[in-house]
Amino acid sequence: MKFIRTLALLLLGVSAASASREKPVIGLSLDTLKEERWQRDRDTFIGAAQKLGATVIVQSANSDDTRQVRDVESLISRKVDVLVIVPHHGEAMTRALRSAKEAGIPVIAYDRLILNAPLDYYLTFDNVKVGEAQATYVASRLPKDRPARIVRIYGAPTDNNARLFKQGQDNVLGPLIKSGRVQVVHEDHALDWKPENAKKIMNAAVTKAGRAIDAVIASNDGTAGGAIQALQEDGLAGKVLVTGQDADLAACQRILRGTQAMTVYKPLKNLAELAARVAVGVAKGETPATTGVINNGFRQVPTILEKIITVDRDNLRATVVADGFHREADLR
Ligand code: BGC
Repeated sequence: MKFIRTLALLLLGVSAASASREKPVIGLSLDTLKEERWQRDRDTFIGAAQKLGATVIVQSANSDDTRQVRDVESLISRKVDVLVIVPHHGEAMTRALRSAKEAGIPVIAYDRLILNAPLDYYLTFDNVKVGEAQATYVASRLPKDRPARIVRIYGAPTDNNARLFKQGQDNVLGPLIKSGRVQVVHEDHALDWKPENAKKIMNAAVTKAGRAIDAVIASNDGTAGGAIQALQEDGLAGKVLVTGQDADLAACQRILRGTQAMTVYKPLKNLAELAARVAVGVAKGETPATTGVINNGFRQVPTILEKIITVDRDNLRATVVADGFHREADLR
C-alpha cells in the first residue's frame, strides 16, 4: 500500500516526504547578500516561513555560479522539501534544476528567472515596469530646447532581470531616440551589478562624451551609487539626473540630498511573504494560485508579478517611510 502511494506521489511529481510533512524544510539559495535588499528578502522570508511552521536552510553563493550549483546540490542531498532560488546566472542553474527534478523537489525562482529548466514557479516584481518607470521619469524631465544626452548603465548580463529592465527602458526611450529627442552618449553593462564597475562606466562616459550629460539611467541603486561617485569627482553630482531601483537606504539618503533623482521601491515584504506561503504550500503538495505564465525556454512557468512604485523626493516619506521600509531617523 505504502509502495503504491509513494509511486503515485512520484508520478505526480510530489515527493512522499513533502506530502506528509507538517513542518517542511525549505532550501533558500541566494546569489548574493551584497545589495542591502537581499538581506531583507532573506530575513523576511525566514520569518514568514517560520510562522507557517517551516524551517529554512540558507546558502549564499557570493556571485559564483559553481558555488551556487554546489549549494543547490547540497540542499538536494539534505532532502529539503522545496527549493527557493535567486540565481546568479539565469542559465547556469539549469543543471541543478535537473537534479532537483530527479529528486522530486519542486523549485521556485525568486525575483530572477531560471532559464531553460524545469522550473515550477516564478515569483517576482514586474521587471519590465521597473525599466519603464526609470525611463518615464527621465523622459518627463528632458530639456525642451535641445536633444537630451543620456548615459545608460545596464545590470549584470548574467541576470535575466537586467534584460527586462532594459526592455522596459527601451519601450519608453525607443521612440525618443528614433526622433532624435534623446541621444545615448554612452552605454554599458555593469558586470555583477558592481558599483565599482558602474563608476568605471561613468568615468568612461565623461571622458568620451564630456560634461554635458543630462541623465544617467542606472538600473539599480548600487550602480547609481557608483555612477554618482564618478559624477562627484567631476563636480557633476546633483546636476545630472540619476535613476535607480531598490530604495536602498543610501539611495534614499541621496534622493533627499539631491544627488539621485529617483528609485523604484519594490515592497520586498510582499514578495518574501508570498514566496514563503507558496513554498510552504508547495511543500505540502498544494497547487498555489498564480496570475500568469512566463516562458523560460523550457516551459510556461506559473508566475506572480508584484507591483512596483516610483519614488522621488516628493513621495519618499509617503511610500518608503510610511510602509516601514526605512525609518525617518535613518534617512538623515
Ligand atoms: C534585482 C534588483 C537588484 C539586482 C542586483 C536584480 O535581479 O531585481 O532588485 O538590485 O538584481 O542584485
